[in-house]
Amino acid sequence: PAAGARLNQLKKKLTDLIEAKAESLKGRIEPEASFDYTLPGRRSFVGRRHPLMQTVERIVHIFRGMGFAIATGPDIETDFYNFDALNTPENHPARDLSDTFYVEKGILLRTHTSTVQVRTMQAQKPPVRIISPGRCYRSDTPDASHSPVFFQCEGLYVDRNVTFGDMKGVIIAFAKEMFGPDVKVRFRPHFFPFTEPSVEYDFSCMLCGSKGCRVCKYNGWLEISGAGMVDPEVFMAVGYDPEEYTGYAFGMGVDRITMLRYRIGDIRLLYDNDVRFLRQF
Ligand code: DAH
Repeated sequence: PAAGARLNQLKKKLTDLIEAKAESLKGRIEPEASFDYTLPGRRSFVGRRHPLMQTVERIVHIFRGMGFAIATGPDIETDFYNFDALNTPENHPARDLSDTFYVEKGILLRTHTSTVQVRTMQAQKPPVRIISPGRCYRSDTPDASHSPVFFQCEGLYVDRNVTFGDMKGVIIAFAKEMFGPDVKVRFRPHFFPFTEPSVEYDFSCMLCGSKGCRVCKYNGWLEISGAGMVDPEVFMAVGYDPEEYTGYAFGMGVDRITMLRYRIGDIRLLYDNDVRFLRQF
């Protein structure tokens, strides 16, 4: 009650001041003379989220709904998190697959968000169910589908009795939430050092209804990323018992999903940050 009384006093004081000011201004404004209300208005531009961030938000929303938490890791990483702990030791041929930006020996700009799998598993015991969206870097020459900076979203689920079927189910459920019930998902056998078995997966091209267009390079499918069952070597690197736990992991190309969502034919548009482009989203 004491605070209420003081607030009321304050309110009265302010109201009196405003009224006094209004009184003193009376007669000093000549609306007709000073304001031309036929002038066109000035448009004010409202900022909005970058299309990539809008896609990240959507991805996060969908996976949150399936019980995944968000995990993060640094862009500047060590060899250990980017390669060694992911079963990719020095001289492993998979290191040649990604052209890495090195800051100095042993320190690099992460080439994928798979680093966050390792950091998360080191920090907590199973069950683990996370996704991790973020920037990645590779010294690729920019073209319509390559950018030296790009976004991925990693996923990881570790518990007892997690199966390959669970992984397929989650990716298919995600695709349908993102692109509607008609999207098809295709899994192809592949190799990644940190998963066994591994797949690459594609979404049917929603731009042309799989008939073939410029964006899907006339084959009706768009490659999204890779996935698989976490390799026992990775579990060993983080101190999990591979006899007790199994898990799946997947990557996700956020740029590709954004291009598919908004019918963008060139990844470079996402990084030029020309407001004439950004304003459309
Ligand atoms: N890190 C891989 C890449 O950058 C994508 C990937 C493949 C992530 C398989 C995964 C996975 O988690 O299980 O191309």
